[in-house]
Amino acid sequence: MVGRICGTGSCVPQRTMDNNDMARIVDTSDEWIRERTGVVRRHIIEEETTVSMAVQAAERAIENSGIPAEEIDLILFATSSSEVIMPCAACEVQRAVGAVNAAGFDLNAACTGFVFAFNTAQAYIAAGMCRTALVIGAESMSNMVDWTDRSTCVLFGDGAGAVVIRAEENGLCRTAAHSDGKKGKALTCLSRHRKGWDKTQDDKESYIQMDGQDVFKFAVRKVPEIIEELLEAEGIGLEEIDHFILHQANRRIVEAAAKRLKADISKFPMDMDEYGNTSAASIPILLDEMNRKGLLQRGQKIIMAGFGAGLSWGASLIEW
Ligand code: COA
Repeated sequence: MVGRICGTGSCVPQRTMDNNDMARIVDTSDEWIRERTGVVRRHIIEEETTVSMAVQAAERAIENSGIPAEEIDLILFATSSSEVIMPCAACEVQRAVGAVNAAGFDLNAACTGFVFAFNTAQAYIAAGMCRTALVIGAESMSNMVDWTDRSTCVLFGDGAGAVVIRAEENGLCRTAAHSDGKKGKALTCLSRHRKGWDKTQDDKESYIQMDGQDVFKFAVRKVPEIIEELLEAEGIGLEEIDHFILHQANRRIVEAAAKRLKADISKFPMDMDEYGNTSAASIPILLDEMNRKGLLQRGQKIIMAGFGAGLSWGASLIEW
């Protein structure tokens, strides 16, 4: 059994902040941010929360799938920025969408989270443990960044994306996943619930800390490697892939990955200009945009690839 995506949905906050808005907060410029990252604006929560965006994305995905919510038997929620720890965010979504027969849990693998959650749902389906899964990536990165640190706050945005997948006899799904904890220091954010945290201090470790160049080099090397790993495992060539849906961290990372693979850049859709890096939400948001624009045709082969803190990287080769 293989899970085929049969519905997608997404939700981003109403409020946008463009690069000129960022330049009023920190010492930066529209030109610097565009050139180094490809980001032009990002959507930032006001009234919204990680869960409220996830609920909207999930409702849209369920509606798009045409499958009643009661038929969902698994909800996986990838996030590293949920405001709620207990109950888990997946249970909050379950209640809101009426997926009364589903079991749900959260999964944190930072920006790789959606792909790891998707692969986990596929494993449940392959093992016969579930038939219909709702997989969500949702983040409020604006709660995690230090708004005085220009090297990180300009990069990220908030949003949510979701897919419904359903078991089918025939189909394609090949997955790969890796972590390298030894390189974990390159991208960190310590919990504000940790013992001894002094809430009166301006504690930089409670916000995203990143060695941008280390993360850049890691992504540019590992993304092509894992794509090649999937192609080799499936025994197909690069040219057979119709779309490469990469985590939308940075335009230069996506372009460098395409170049290393010697792949046609037009097969690498991008939307970080509009949303910035929405971490675990970026891949399902992009997938939903493409689906709603009618750019995905049944039978097309797609590779999704995520990478981020951990360091971790994962990918899935699927057929639409
Ligand atoms: N605006 C203006 N200048 C900035 C800036 C900003 N927002 N952020 C950093 N700078 C400055 C630095 O202070 C530095 O100044 P200096 O030369 O006077 O010391 C200069 O720009 C170059 O900084 P550097 O960090 O070398 O830039 P870079 O070319 O590596 O680009 C990133 C920085 C973060 C855009 C880049 O490293 C990157 O994209 N890394 C990957 C990050 C990522 O995607 N992380 C998430 C993965 S899930």
